[in-house]
Amino acid sequence: MLRKISSIDFRSSNTTSGKTVLIRVDYNVPVQNEIVIDDYRIVKSLPTIKYCLEKGSKVVLMSHMGRPNGKINEDLSLIPVGEKLAELLEMPIKFSEDCISDDAIDVSRNLKDGEIHLLENLRFHEGETKNDSHFSSILAKHGSIYINDAFGTAHRKHASNYGVADYFSTKGIGFLVEKELEFLSEKVSNAKKPLTLIVGGSKIDTKLALIENFMDIADNIIIGGAMANTFLLAEGNCVGNSLVEKDKVSTAKQIFKVGSKKGTNIILPIDFKGEIGKLGSKKYCEAEKGNIPNDMICEDIGDKSIKLFNSVLSKSSTIVWNGTLGVAENKIFAKGTESIIDFIVSKELTSIVGGGDTVAAIRNYKEEYIQEFSHASTGGGSCLELLSGNKLPAIEILK
Ligand code: 3PG
Repeated sequence: MLRKISSIDFRSSNTTSGKTVLIRVDYNVPVQNEIVIDDYRIVKSLPTIKYCLEKGSKVVLMSHMGRPNGKINEDLSLIPVGEKLAELLEMPIKFSEDCISDDAIDVSRNLKDGEIHLLENLRFHEGETKNDSHFSSILAKHGSIYINDAFGTAHRKHASNYGVADYFSTKGIGFLVEKELEFLSEKVSNAKKPLTLIVGGSKIDTKLALIENFMDIADNIIIGGAMANTFLLAEGNCVGNSLVEKDKVSTAKQIFKVGSKKGTNIILPIDFKGEIGKLGSKKYCEAEKGNIPNDMICEDIGDKSIKLFNSVLSKSSTIVWNGTLGVAENKIFAKGTESIIDFIVSKELTSIVGGGDTVAAIRNYKEEYIQEFSHASTGGGSCLELLSGNKLPAIEILK
């Protein structure tokens, strides 16, 4: 059975001091000039850390950053993360520059109640991504309780989130993982109907399992982003010079077929904004489905599509969103995505958003809006896996 952090006893039975908790967090955050430029994931890890400290325990934090391939890479050091964490918690943080050195283990063993020890990037050792059992066994020496709160990494089977679990009898999930599972799994499986999935992005393959899973549970699937072009092509429409995956046209046709068999409405954009003309003399233009010029590149949905999508959303009780509806990082082509954000936050419904690009689009538009969603996932790949109906190894191993 999966244990929640609230069911774990952090006090040692024979002494008054607290136990040492080894927490796997996901501090894979963007750093520039040795400064964390987006602390979203760090902030989301704080409730678990604070809870452990309030219970009088000692906390050891471990994470990866980037993909250093088993080699030390100063650009991927967790030192800036430690500084940000110290600032957010308003307390000093101990740091060890080698996560499995004897010195690092000594620091963990000599922590006083209420102290925090952050370990350097786990992926500086190749044993981490290889799920090496010797590496896991050394990591396990840092604590007597293991908590996984690294949702963003839960689709990986690595030493610090998979192999390490074998070495603990007391183990469980932190508050962040608990909330992610509650929304991305329970609230989706038992969704208040009508349930609408909004899916965007450019590649059908990356979202295929998600669409297939929602075909069984959703009432509506709204498709936007460059992915929609391939579906429009599959319907026999001209999409001009827009990004398409010609080899996925048959997949798109199959999705239409399954959708109509299962009674799932598949809704595509009906008008577009984009660019027309040759490189160097491009102009912005708009066109409706059926009238897209041969040299137009569709980069956002148009006003009629926004209206159409909003009419579907207004009749939905639960919305799950993964993938932007246009090139949202370009302000000119962000209106489709931003209008849908405006609409969702103005309604009383369960709204679940996941995927780095979609969460970033909301935060770049209006940072405070992210709080208005019932749940904004901290995961990219892990969120997609769960929404696709797959299990996460790092969670399964704790059951
Ligand atoms: C993420 O940012 O998606 C996670 O931290 C996982 O990182 P990875 O794809 O390098 O394993």
